[in-house]
Amino acid sequence: MSYFGCWGLPMALLTLLCCPGSAEAFEVYIEFEKQVVEATESLKINCSTSCAEPELGDLETHLVKTMLDQHPKGRWKLFLVSNVSQDTVFLCHFTCAQKQQSRELRIRVYQPPTEVTLTLWPQRVLLGEAFTIECKTSAVKPLESLTLTLLHGKKILQIQTFEDSEPTLQEVTVTFNSTVSTKDSLNFSCQAELDLRPYGENITHCISKSQLLDVYVLMPDNQMVIIIVVVSVLLLLFVMSVLLCFIFGQHWHRRRTGTYGVLAAWRRLPRAFRTRPA
Ligand SMILES: *[C@@H]1O[C@H](CO)[C@@H](O)[C@H](O)[C@H]1NC(C)=O
Ligand SMILES: *[C@@H]1O[C@H](CO)[C@@H](O)[C@H](O)[C@H]1NC(C)=O
Ligand SMILES: *[C@@H]1O[C@H](CO)[C@@H](O)[C@H](O)[C@H]1NC(C)=O
Ligand SMILES: *[C@@H]1O[C@H](CO)[C@@H](O)[C@H](O)[C@H]1NC(C)=O
Ligand SMILES: *[C@@H]1O[C@H](CO)[C@@H](O)[C@H](O)[C@H]1NC(C)=O
Repeated sequence: MSYFGCWGLPMALLTLLCCPGSAEAFEVYIEFEKQVVEATESLKINCSTSCAEPELGDLETHLVKTMLDQHPKGRWKLFLVSNVSQDTVFLCHFTCAQKQQSRELRIRVYQPPTEVTLTLWPQRVLLGEAFTIECKTSAVKPLESLTLTLLHGKKILQIQTFEDSEPTLQEVTVTFNSTVSTKDSLNFSCQAELDLRPYGENITHCISKSQLLDVYVLMPDNQMVIIIVVVSVLLLLFVMSVLLCFIFGQHWHRRRTGTYGVLAAWRRLPRAFRTRPA
């Protein structure tokens, strides 16, 4: 370590910050209440060291901090950080015998969904036609803990999970397209669930008001078409049967009268023959 002496304190600080493992003389510890903080909440952080008499100790942050308490010899300092509204890295550092040690703390911010809205386009749809469901949440974080579930009654239509890409709170929108295949009106809702159990917090649910998709069918028109077709067919059958009756009737009548004519002539004939030999 004497090698660094000629470079002075700044270089030593820099080296120690870069490579904390290279100086084992004392340790720096961070204690904190929770791994995740709800957006705009405050957080208590206790920076402490194994150094018996540290020359300096502090918490580095761009957020507003207040020192609540400290050890008489500065072996620990308790800070309150207010309004944590984004994922933040905190740095506790102590200087002991002109050497500096630091430790980092990453705190993630969460924001449970407070409102979920479901919108239907259109709200009234013809049987067989397409419609769109849009589910939108209020600002949420972290997205990777969020699950959006689209429900039809109690049936799950779609489950959507996300990857956390943004460090800031954001609203989330999911759309679902489908076509109507039933005559009944459809009851949709959307549920947002933020599962913070991996961070020692609870699951938060928020469900939208249910929305009814009004389904209609072109019933009167269809019935008219069916009635017209049936009546036409019946009319055609009636006309054809009347026509056939008439044709066959005429034919039969002609055959009968023709037969009687021949029969009468034939009957008359034997009488003539019968009288001739007599
Ligand atoms: C801060 O941490 C140190 C080391 O763990 C502990 O001795 C001290 O009591 C803590 N201070 C408070 C106020 O919790
Ligand atoms: C908290 O922080 C946010 C963003 O950093 C800021 O917009 C807001 O005004 C702050 N609120 C308070 C009470 O300081
Ligand atoms: C729609 O479904 C929800 C949840 O299943 C239920 O509470 C609500 O009464 C239903 N609404 C109608 C109009 O059926
Ligand atoms: C749903 O349909 C709309 C318009 O018809 C389209 O803009 C949107 O990308 C579709 N969404 C999905 C998830 O297919
Ligand atoms: C989780 O919720 C239960 C019941 O609502 C509550 O008793 C418990 O304290 C909560 N846990 C946390 C870590 O918030």
